[in-house]
Amino acid sequence: MKDCIQVGMLGLGTVGTGVAKVLCQNGASIAHKVGKPIVLKTVLVRDVHKERSLPQPVQVTDKVEDILNDPEIDIVIEVMGGEEPAKDYMLRAMKAGKHVVTANKDVVAQHGKELFAAAEEAQVDFLFEASVGGGIPIIRPLKQCLAGNHIYEVMGIVNGTTNYMLTKMTQEGLDFADVLAEAQAKGYAEADPTADVGGLDAARKLAILASIAFNARVTFDDVYVEGITNISSEDIAYASELGYVIKLLAIAREEEGRISVRVHPTFLPSSHPLANVNDVYNAVFVRGDAVGEAMFYGRGAGEMPTASAVVGDVIDAARNLYRGASGRILCTCFEDRPIQPISETKAPYFIRLLVQDQPGVLAAIAGAFGAQQVSLNSVIQKRKINGCAELAVITYEVPDSCVQLALSTMRGMSVVSEVRSVIRVAMD
Ligand code: NAP
Ligand code: HSE
Repeated sequence: MKDCIQVGMLGLGTVGTGVAKVLCQNGASIAHKVGKPIVLKTVLVRDVHKERSLPQPVQVTDKVEDILNDPEIDIVIEVMGGEEPAKDYMLRAMKAGKHVVTANKDVVAQHGKELFAAAEEAQVDFLFEASVGGGIPIIRPLKQCLAGNHIYEVMGIVNGTTNYMLTKMTQEGLDFADVLAEAQAKGYAEADPTADVGGLDAARKLAILASIAFNARVTFDDVYVEGITNISSEDIAYASELGYVIKLLAIAREEEGRISVRVHPTFLPSSHPLANVNDVYNAVFVRGDAVGEAMFYGRGAGEMPTASAVVGDVIDAARNLYRGASGRILCTCFEDRPIQPISETKAPYFIRLLVQDQPGVLAAIAGAFGAQQVSLNSVIQKRKINGCAELAVITYEVPDSCVQLALSTMRGMSVVSEVRSVIRVAMD
């Protein structure tokens, strides 16, 4: 029997550096928890000449074979990111009998099925706690602690960059462009922030959560996505006046046997537990038949929080290895469930329009909504912009298709200058 468990790591950037630090600083207690020490043996990078800050000596290589062909390495951590070659390396590691731990939501959301099949065949562990919510434990709670439940809904704030931006816009009244520049300067948003502000990062994470919650494969392509690029300080001010905050929510809900999966900005009642999740924090709210409501909250990204989740998985894989119990919990997608088209999802809507300020216009707008069975809960008219009256409307709960038809009619009406905002409203 080996006297330690040796690990290879693909990538030594933000997360990889954190993993090396945690394995070193908590090495003694980790050894007690596992039964033997975990040793980081080799790390793959692109540029072997780059200066690295490593807490202990580690072999650094630019040849993946140094890890994949090393019979002493039992566990491979993938923290290099991107779809390829990360996916290929993980599949090759599994074929070589190595357990794989990853933080890579892109690969898990799009190719989870293929990776689970490879893990099943090789009877190795495939663990990905860090792929959703950074340091927040959510994959293992869903897969294990809440496994006895029938889950109805998983709803979360799973992108730190956009939550930081919306928080700043709400608390300081700043505009989208200014807040984005600030988020980039602080290193929260990427140089290319498209995946964050466009909702794609959250959609990948939601696909992973929904697959586990509903025991059915949900991929990134199944998720309806709207980002926050159209959210203005005016929308935020209306939300606050009406008792709401705007959050980019990732929602997976069971709807009469089908699954609704969507990411979009949402008017959330200020009293909702997710409404107080601010700055770069993430949270996931779960509703199950036995547990009732549960919420998981914490840091959704960053070097050490993400490393916390990765190292937790490594310890799990090492314990399984030590006890001869690897491959115990693999794919849990045993059902085939249809996705509900976005056109059929129902919600109340907040709609902001600029219209001609003349008699009969309000009646014409109400008529266009009424013709599509869209019933209005409240109408606010309080100011003029560029000579037009601004109307803010909140509807009752209606199917998306009806709202879209009504808006399409209004866009063709001469008295409607502009449809400025269309934002779904969450009910309590
Ligand atoms: P990062 O800082 O860009 O680091 C990537 C590392 O991988 C670098 O060390 C890079 O080598 C190496 N690498 C990239 N492509 C490679 C290739 N083809 N061959 C060899 N080495 C390669 O990325 P990160 O922020 O740590 O993110 C890593 C993963 O964790 C991603 O999947 C990300 O989505 C996920 N994640 C990140 C966070 C976060 O807060 N950052 C949170 C949750 C999940 P060089 O150093 O030589 O360039
Ligand atoms: N870009 C992500 C966020 C972090 O802003 O939450 C990595 O998952």
